[in-house]
Amino acid sequence: MYKYTCEGDISCGVNIVKDKENMTDLEKKHTPVINAPGKVNKGELFEVTVEVGKYMKHPNTMGHFIQWIELYSGNTFLGRAEFTPEFSDPKIKMVVMLKHGHPLIAVERCNLHGIWSSEPKSIKVV
Ligand SMILES: [Fe+2]
Repeated sequence: MYKYTCEGDISCGVNIVKDKENMTDLEKKHTPVINAPGKVNKGELFEVTVEVGKYMKHPNTMGHFIQWIELYSGNTFLGRAEFTPEFSDPKIKMVVMLKHGHPLIAVERCNLHGIWSSEPKSIKVV
């Protein structure tokens, strides 16, 4: 997912935070933040929330908004939410189950600033 990027071109590939201790405003506005338990039972449903703009509010206007959020377990697609500017905010809750302990990864797309990935969220499946 991260292989094909172009330094300095946010419309190319998947953007990720470069330095967690020194995030840019662009990174703060676009990085999805996952909230999930650190440990879950194999095959049992649990809740995951994903929020874009947690560190710094992202605009939500007709001209500039978050178009969608997707959630993955490793490379396995878990779900997707799409948003209408002004009417819906880019914060979602999904109910999912896992069979394997691959990290959760959330990805979002801003109509002006491209695709951004969360940090992988480690999750133990027992
Ligand atoms: Fe944006």
